[in-house]
Amino acid sequence: MKALGVPYKGSKAKLAKKIIDSLPPAEYFVDLFAGGCAVTHAAMLSQKYKRFIINDIDGRGTDVFYRAVRGERIPTEWVSRDEFHERKMTDSFTAVIWSFGNDMDTYIYGAKTESAKHAIHIAITENDYTECEDLNIAVKHCDLPMNKLFERRMAITSSIFESNNSLPMHTKQVAQALERVERIQAIQQLQESDALRRLEPIQQLDYSKVEIPSNSIVYCDIPYRDTNTGGYQPIDYESFYDWCERQKSPVFISEHEMPDERFKVYKSWQTHQTSSGKGKINIVTENLYIPKAQG
Ligand SMILES: C[S@@+](CC[C@H](N)C(=O)[O-])C[C@H]1O[C@@H](n2cnc3c(N)ncnc32)[C@H](O)[C@@H]1O
Repeated sequence: MKALGVPYKGSKAKLAKKIIDSLPPAEYFVDLFAGGCAVTHAAMLSQKYKRFIINDIDGRGTDVFYRAVRGERIPTEWVSRDEFHERKMTDSFTAVIWSFGNDMDTYIYGAKTESAKHAIHIAITENDYTECEDLNIAVKHCDLPMNKLFERRMAITSSIFESNNSLPMHTKQVAQALERVERIQAIQQLQESDALRRLEPIQQLDYSKVEIPSNSIVYCDIPYRDTNTGGYQPIDYESFYDWCERQKSPVFISEHEMPDERFKVYKSWQTHQTSSGKGKINIVTENLYIPKAQG
């Protein structure tokens, strides 16, 4: 199965199915810090919930998810560095597909490799090989139909990989933006399950402003308190703890650590995380907490 949700910083893509498997069923699944909606995506596939409420104060990841579920075409056109910076705050597809490390802030490709990446991108998406030839990138012309994006990407990138021994590795690791497009395209399979009708209009509010219907399960993937959240809006943790305790619907919170006297671990998983740059693998404990006040 393809990764769940939209490519997103701090995505729960790897854990989403396990989280959903551990939660009780209800009428509504409410994802208050939805980000790229990996957990809502798993919830929609699970058949445990009838309706879905998604909210995020940023709104770009949730917008891409919603538009994919609605069946909109996912844009494959090249976005330059300047276009990225002009549009990253207002065009959610640009921010999600064209940012480095999914940070929605830095351009995906380094200045040195940009022209090679552009040449390969248009070979895949426009069947135009002139820039590859100008840059001496050997590439086998591909006669697969233009709508077979994944197959075209695989055929063209592997022909480049095989025939350009002198090209640096970072140039051979090509077309990352198109990999993101394919991941978003995978969300469109939800259309077959009548998902759009079951999804409430997206909200872009502070979590505390979202109205929660009775018979809901509330999931909160908050910015972790002990982690540099880089780019997320900070939350006031004490107010959040108070809010959790006031809720009538069961609340489940993803965190590394919460105050023992107020919250207890409901479920726990060990995950592997590669530390950036060094390639070192760390084992991280991911906890799902519930407020003690809720039982
Ligand atoms: C860890 S990410 C969520 C990732 C998501 N579960 C996924 O799988 O893609 C945390 C999210 O909380 C959002 N956020 C931060 N403060 C918020 C607030 N006060 N209300 C609602 N969302 C908030 C951020 O914009 C960010 O998208």
